Amino acid sequence: MLKYILVLIVIMVVVGMVTGGVHLYKVGQKNKKDLAAYINGEIEYNNNLGKTLVVYYSLSGNTESIAQNIAQKTNADVFKIETKEQIKLNPSFYLKIKKQLSEKTYPEINTDMPDFANYDTIFVGFPVWWYTIATPVLSFLQKADFAGKKVVPFSTQGSNFGTSFADFKTNANNAQILEGMAFNNLDKKYDKAVDNKINDWLNGL
Ligand SMILES: Cc1cc2nc3c(=O)[nH]c(=O)nc-3n(C[C@H](O)[C@H](O)[C@H](O)COP(=O)(O)O)c2cc1C
Repeated sequence: MLKYILVLIVIMVVVGMVTGGVHLYKVGQKNKKDLAAYINGEIEYNNNLGKTLVVYYSLSGNTESIAQNIAQKTNADVFKIETKEQIKLNPSFYLKIKKQLSEKTYPEINTDMPDFANYDTIFVGFPVWWYTIATPVLSFLQKADFAGKKVVPFSTQGSNFGTSFADFKTNANNAQILEGMAFNNLDKKYDKAVDNKINDWLNGL
């Protein structure tokens, strides 16, 4: 009996590894295809988005890096969303977030809010959590009223942003939403291509 259980466990591990490997390969190929137009050459930022604010939340730095890139190009002010409770990224965290999303009970964040009156364009950046907007950003959106403002969402994710941008539309109160952009996590060797992609997107806004 023990022998059969061991064989079953080995089969499950092997199947898991093969499936994971195939998934990673497919994501890698898709990233390459999506960035093909940006790998070579240089696209310069040449837009003027008026007085700009970049709002973002980032747990492990990926969204922060895109946010800083946008802020630097657009000469924007930056507002970082922070949770009251310090987050530890362990397996139970994933379940906690799933519960927050199903119960629509989002974490407490900064008590201060930026004064949107000072800005023409507001970027809002978020990591994708469970195929939607990270819950600290949902908290921020609950408190925000974007009346009269152009709002531009952007995300970072492993590979699948799910319903994030549709969810952004329903959660960004009174915003005039401009075209958002999703950024998959990539190896450093794609930094230049990502930079070109950001400039191309910003120029089109
Ligand atoms: C709780 C949790 C859920 C996640 N869910 C997804 C997901 O549904 N799709 C995806 O592609 N990546 C998912 N990720 C990966 C993050 O979206 C990705 O690593 C993101 O770039 C993290 O941004 P940050 O470094 O700014 O925190 C998840 C990460 C966490 C912590």
